[in-house]
Amino acid sequence: MSLASVIQAEQKLLLPTYDRQRVLFTRGRGLYLWDSRGKRYLDFLSGIGVNALGHGHPAIRGALRRQADRLIHVSNLFYHEYQAELAKRLTKISGLEKAFFCNSGTEAWEGALKLARALARVESPNGHKAKWRLLALENSFHGRTFGSLATTGQEKYRHPFAPLVPGIGFVAFNDVQDLKRQFDGSVCGVCVETIQGEGGIQPLSQEFLQTARDLTAKTGALLIVDEIQCGLGRTGKYFAYQHYGIQPDIVTVAKPLAAGLPLGALLTTNRVATGMHPGMHGTTFGGGPLACAVAIEFLKVLDQLMPHIRKVGDYFHQQLDALKAKHSGVREVRGLGLMLGMDLNSADKAKAVVAQLLERGILINRTHETVLRFLPPFIIETKHVDQAIRALDSALSSSAKPDFTRSHKSTTRSHH
Ligand SMILES: Cc1ncc(COP(=O)(O)O)c(C=O)c1O
Repeated sequence: MSLASVIQAEQKLLLPTYDRQRVLFTRGRGLYLWDSRGKRYLDFLSGIGVNALGHGHPAIRGALRRQADRLIHVSNLFYHEYQAELAKRLTKISGLEKAFFCNSGTEAWEGALKLARALARVESPNGHKAKWRLLALENSFHGRTFGSLATTGQEKYRHPFAPLVPGIGFVAFNDVQDLKRQFDGSVCGVCVETIQGEGGIQPLSQEFLQTARDLTAKTGALLIVDEIQCGLGRTGKYFAYQHYGIQPDIVTVAKPLAAGLPLGALLTTNRVATGMHPGMHGTTFGGGPLACAVAIEFLKVLDQLMPHIRKVGDYFHQQLDALKAKHSGVREVRGLGLMLGMDLNSADKAKAVVAQLLERGILINRTHETVLRFLPPFIIETKHVDQAIRALDSALSSSAKPDFTRSHKSTTRSHH
């Protein structure tokens, strides 16, 4: 099938939820993807942080083949061999004690919100002062289902679907005083991304996260940390909160967990787990044998890659800083490990740079209008960083020229 025929068929048959890039990918291997015309692309986006081991990693293909031959699905009415094994590995690296498996990030986050409400009910039963408010952050992103949207502090995602879940307040990002003002005994959980992803690669300050931890610890409210984008090695530690020396009550993960298969998890403590009992929460597909067997393999490979992520991530950060020093259109470089963002002074410029990199066969994306987002696979080497930096350097130079917008528009038009 050609790109044109796929576009035509999708326009007719699919709900128009995406404004896709006009590329039809047919194959991937390692750090590269190939489109239907045979053009090769260096992947610096990993399917939005999912393909952390690149494409077709031998350990993942091996686990997939082995498990697909044995058993794909049993439902959560029965046992299989892999949930406990995967939970053991995840609790060990997170410092938490219990896991629940599901299919996606938003579903993990929904589980976390429900658990916070359920625990508050168990711990203060029979008409104690209501403790069901959740505080979330402005500029956050937690997913597309109703609870996740209700805690997502960006109007553009929420507006069409109001009214959302009640009982949620928003705190200004990294504003310690605002957090203190809004926090009281009616709050059952404070919700944060350690590094906001969709919000433009914005790390929490140490002071803010510490204050959230201190306030919640005093009242027994939960610190609920969304590590769906920044967790599982992405920042050079297993979890981004480990850079802060803080231990949350609930952590959510998803994206890279099963190296491309849908799998999410929430991790929590024994105390918080008492909020749930059989029948209260569940999923048909979540934590199936295929996804869990693959996730175990992912974590084994991840263990070996951690020092590499730190090394290449630091190098990438330095190179981006050097571009910032050179190009006046770069406002800031942010992030940790291999979760990096470059904030430009214009949304049009950011759009143009993404388009120009795509032309040159390098995949990145733009988030929060002005931020170039880099989420490369953990297996990139410094030579791939150099390649991306050269392309960025030239895109930033040409996007600074006044005639670039015109030539960019004609390029995209010929693609559309
Ligand atoms: C921090 C964060 N939370 C939640 C989600 C939602 O995950 P999913 O798209 O798997 O539902 C995302 C997705 O981008 C995310 O980045």
